[in-house]
Amino acid sequence: MPDRVQSPHPDIERILLTEPQIKARIAELGARISRDYAGRELTLVSVLKGSVIFLGDLMRAITVDCSVDFIGLSSYSGTKSSGVVRLTLDLRESPEGKDILIVEDIVDTGLTIHYLLENLKTRSPRSLEICAFLNKAECRQREVGLKYVGFDIPDEFVVGFGLDHNERFRNLPYVGVMRPNGGK
Ligand code: IMP
Repeated sequence: MPDRVQSPHPDIERILLTEPQIKARIAELGARISRDYAGRELTLVSVLKGSVIFLGDLMRAITVDCSVDFIGLSSYSGTKSSGVVRLTLDLRESPEGKDILIVEDIVDTGLTIHYLLENLKTRSPRSLEICAFLNKAECRQREVGLKYVGFDIPDEFVVGFGLDHNERFRNLPYVGVMRPNGGK
């Protein structure tokens, strides 16, 4: 089936990552993760809500046995991080003794993922790694080791493919840069 023709949403200034680009990169990430975790059972911890679209595609590209759990964290309001991270939903299962791979939509300042790493470390997982769909390295305030990264992107506010602005635009099948005042 041909890939969908993309005409950007009126509030999107430009498309940064197209559907075919994203699809190809996720296939590569899935293959790498499957090689690295061969013979092990993997638990994917998806950070709500932004990572769910990425998670759905990534887990179908992973060929080792894996289960999924969800965690809710919040630090953003509009296009600004409040800097204060809150746990809004905890895991259903204990991560103790498990090979945990955190699936995150985007790492920006690094404050959210740093908080999550510190939190999960206290619960004694067997291993703990991060797979981030997007990485804005130039915005980092906390250094965090990202084992898998989909795309390094510049410091611009992006939406689509799960990422939102005030809960809008998560359903866009591509990643785009919002127009100034696009989110109203
Ligand atoms: P950090 O704590 O600054 O690393 O930000 C992590 C969280 O902020 C991500 O999980 C997103 O929910 C949100 N975020 C950061 N940058 C963007 C962006 O460009 N678009 C949408 N959400 C973002």
